[in-house]
Amino acid sequence: MCGIIGYVGADRSNAADVLLHGLSQLEYRGYDSAGIALADGKLDVHKRQGELSALENALAGADIGNQTTGIGHTRWSTHGPPSDRNAHPHTDAENRVAVVHNGIIENYQGLRDELSAEGIDFRSETDTEVIPHLIAGFLEDGLDHEAAFRAAIDRLEGSYAVAAVFAGSETVYAARHESPLVLGLADDGTYLASDVPAFIEFTDRVIYLEDGEFARLEGDEISVTDSEGRVVETSIETIEWDPEDAGKSGYDHYMRKEINEQPSALRECFRGRLDELSGRVTLEEFEGFELNPPVTFVACGTSYHAALFGAQLFREWGVPAHAYLASEFEAETMPIDTDSVVVGVTQSGETADTLRALREANAAGATTVAVTNVVGSSAARETDRVLYIRAGPEISVAATKTFASQQAALTMLAAALSNHRSRDLVRELRSVPDRIQSVLDEDAAREVASTYADASAYFFIGRGYHYPVALEGALKMKEITYKHAEGFAAGELKHGPLALVTEQTPVFAIVTGDGRRAEKTIGNVKEVEARGTPVVAITDGRSEVGRYADHVLEVPSAGEITSSMVANVQLQRVAYWTAHELGRSIDKPRNLAKSVTVE
Ligand code: F6R
Repeated sequence: MCGIIGYVGADRSNAADVLLHGLSQLEYRGYDSAGIALADGKLDVHKRQGELSALENALAGADIGNQTTGIGHTRWSTHGPPSDRNAHPHTDAENRVAVVHNGIIENYQGLRDELSAEGIDFRSETDTEVIPHLIAGFLEDGLDHEAAFRAAIDRLEGSYAVAAVFAGSETVYAARHESPLVLGLADDGTYLASDVPAFIEFTDRVIYLEDGEFARLEGDEISVTDSEGRVVETSIETIEWDPEDAGKSGYDHYMRKEINEQPSALRECFRGRLDELSGRVTLEEFEGFELNPPVTFVACGTSYHAALFGAQLFREWGVPAHAYLASEFEAETMPIDTDSVVVGVTQSGETADTLRALREANAAGATTVAVTNVVGSSAARETDRVLYIRAGPEISVAATKTFASQQAALTMLAAALSNHRSRDLVRELRSVPDRIQSVLDEDAAREVASTYADASAYFFIGRGYHYPVALEGALKMKEITYKHAEGFAAGELKHGPLALVTEQTPVFAIVTGDGRRAEKTIGNVKEVEARGTPVVAITDGRSEVGRYADHVLEVPSAGEITSSMVANVQLQRVAYWTAHELGRSIDKPRNLAKSVTVE
């Protein structure tokens, strides 16, 4: 899990600036150390433990302004703790080649033993360092740069996006296998990166490198070849994001910006897909799709909560469905075969656990579907059908707008595939952006956050469609406040967790409507209230839950499915303002990374 960038300038010589800018856009992929290597003359490598600012400070005043070619890396540790030594780029003993890598080299220990036996001294604890040493060995055998790079890559097992530069050369070489890599073409040079935001400011013309392919960047030209060295015909795609979309636009934190972007993200998600007159949802992407129940969802973290929500919708509309944590999904121990439909829900489209589950499902002959935000991501490319959630880039590590868009997209998917027609549903979906806006326009969540910022733990309860939202409310709270938070199915509270509630542990209860589920959850709220525990009700006021609550966070009245989308925004805001009150690193919580590309 890391971010990599490479740049070859055609007619300007500011590679260092381009690389540092790109790394600043990739820090969401990892931020425990960063480094760059410039290659025009002798290899010039600079790297530092810590956030990118540590590297930038170290470079202030350094003579790095006149080079055209380089690579950079922002790291999230997998092998070896964060340190200057373990930071990328890594080089061979004689500084002939520098390498950056994202992924995991599974056979690195064997390679390391082999290289050590040849007398090579390793300077880091990383799996990556074997690569420059392998390349150097092939150079010594007489191979040229490209052949040595290819020969080294050939020795690797595992997942990788690798880029390399050679001393005195103005070429960047790259290869990928199961880790993302995108190439950018501009008049002033060529780029490569783990993700588009790294260079979107400079070009919107991209080529997605596929597994097993190699790229050579030289001046304003890119050539792509397959593992046999044959030239691959590539297609150049145009990214339609505005570079502004990847910036903070004046907010203190990306998370707040992204929470506030939810109305527009959802409008985008619904665009062209809802027909109010017929009550139909039309998903072009699924034309002619034959649904074979049951539907099996696989996902991780926040996306898993969306998957639980999606599976419940399918069941409600008559289609058996269930959701698995991707890391617990093993196709061979489940009835997955050529009749199965397996849906991977993954914002990034690069989460290793989810990709592995989808690959197993593919191998078992299942029809696979990706519900993702990232066009051209691995999940999108490796599945039979893709539903894009259209949330736009999400930079904050904590997923917010992508969860809302996943809920919306999955509601549409379930309605479309189960042939559920409802004008009320379509009308309600259309009104979600305005209802979320009304929540964004008030301050109650901030007041609740400041009242309970010192709490010792937080609990979240909900039933039905509010259950996944309770889980999500707790995940958001724990990941950005570093405080203990748990979500429970409201009915489960009395089966154990009730022992945890005290006057210091507010319970957030999501209760909308006035039906059976609301009544039962109110019963659970009473159990909590009777023990002197503060209660915060997230409610539309249609039930009497407010009578038992110390605080009320309002959501406009509507059906449970869409109310859960709005209730979630109240919980996102409570988590955000609590973390704000506690002075946490909101956009980059400790130990976490945006895109988890290792299992
Ligand atoms: C939490 C969060 C993570 C991700 C999870 C899956 O805020 O963002 O739990 O949801 O790592 O990521 P994707 O959706 O990219 O597969």
